[in-house]
Amino acid sequence: MKFPTGGDSPRGKILIRWNSEADGQSPDGRRGKKGPEVGFELFMISNLDYYFIRDTFNLARKGEGIVSPNPLVGAIVVKDGKVLGKGYHKGRRKPHAEVCAIEDAGSKVRGGTLYVSLEPCCHYGETPPCTDLIISSGIKRVVAPIEDPNPLVNGKGFEVLRSNKVEVTTGVLKEEACQLNSFYLKYIKEKIPYVVLKAALTLDGRIGDPEREIYEITSRESREEVHRWRNRVDAILVGVETVITDNPELTVRLVRASHEPYKVVIDPNLRTPKDAKIFDGKGNVIIVTQKEEGNNRYPGADIWTFQQKKGIISVKEILKRVGEFGITSILIEGGSRTYTNFVTEGVVDKYLLFYSPSIIGDGVPFLSCAVRRKFLNTHIKTFGDDILVEANNSCLQG
Ligand SMILES: NC(=O)c1ccc[n+]([C@@H]2O[C@H](COP(=O)([O-])OP(=O)(O)OC[C@H]3O[C@@H](n4cnc5c(N)ncnc54)[C@H](OP(=O)(O)O)[C@@H]3O)[C@@H](O)[C@H]2O)c1
Repeated sequence: MKFPTGGDSPRGKILIRWNSEADGQSPDGRRGKKGPEVGFELFMISNLDYYFIRDTFNLARKGEGIVSPNPLVGAIVVKDGKVLGKGYHKGRRKPHAEVCAIEDAGSKVRGGTLYVSLEPCCHYGETPPCTDLIISSGIKRVVAPIEDPNPLVNGKGFEVLRSNKVEVTTGVLKEEACQLNSFYLKYIKEKIPYVVLKAALTLDGRIGDPEREIYEITSRESREEVHRWRNRVDAILVGVETVITDNPELTVRLVRASHEPYKVVIDPNLRTPKDAKIFDGKGNVIIVTQKEEGNNRYPGADIWTFQQKKGIISVKEILKRVGEFGITSILIEGGSRTYTNFVTEGVVDKYLLFYSPSIIGDGVPFLSCAVRRKFLNTHIKTFGDDILVEANNSCLQG
């Protein structure tokens, strides 16, 4: 049975689907029972599924900034319509969300339903298989929207549960589940980080004022949202000219920080000032360069050396190295030439374009060469007086 996804309300659609199939071919295996009672029962279960799965997403988000390279996972144990236990994954070597929720539920868990935002694991990793605990605790049904594409799981978790007579429902709020774990889903499959490009623009598409009369283009509310994104990702990246002209700290300050991301500077000629604010304490600095002598100049920073071709270090090569280092998500924060390289190489997964209600005419352009991109999937939000246009690539699960 296919549930509607996205912002669709499950009401109506599920009931109509059920009535049209009320010939015993029940989509959840309740064969033999026919008629409106079963349809109503399924309708109620499905609505509860949506409700509780959405709740697992909220729980999972509490792990933002701390779980990488693991996925964000939330779990809830429900029995007779009552929530018995809740949990979320708090990071590497910490118990999985399913374990936290089952332990929180205590002895009443037998016969309950486990809602979890991702397929439970079935292998020994840093913790034992969650499927073992689910089966031994007597959970009767598991609802999880998507498979975990980790080759060690990849549908096997669901198989193990089904073969041990645990009913499994998948596909509920699938798209949201993919969005929730977009960093993890990309990284586990491609071993390169999920790339988010953030820019603050005037309405005429400028990102900087050469006269330096406008320093902050966007409002405090927009900058807070940027800091929320900084707190979600593993690393922030800028070009050296931005370090020289703006001297940013590149830290999480305007919201509560659960970690400090790495700061990556593309600086082929080692022009980063030694007293730049990026070196002030919080967050490790990585300098991407073509020069070997970087270690002596910036003793506190990691220096990664690359070959340039036609004056450019390939951003695909940079992302490959960043992925090998274990960084699963990266926020590109400018400036113009840096954005241009990432956009033209086609490696950006999500754009966050903050437009302030201003024009400056002759400022620094967002991009410095011709590029053609048409987005299919955009969202608009407001922050203070600004408009955020969020343009996403599609969900990675088929
Ligand atoms: N509104 C916003 O959201 C925002 C954000 C950030 C910055 N800005 C503004 O943007 C302006 C700076 O932009 P910009 O274009 O001049 O500079 P930039 O993108 O910050 O830095 C460009 C420099 O970084 C190096 N670089 C970047 N990518 C490279 C690559 N793939 N390969 C080799 N080198 C690479 C090069 O250094 P070399 O020159 O040493 O070769 C290049 O000249 C400033 O006005 C700043 O205020 C605005």
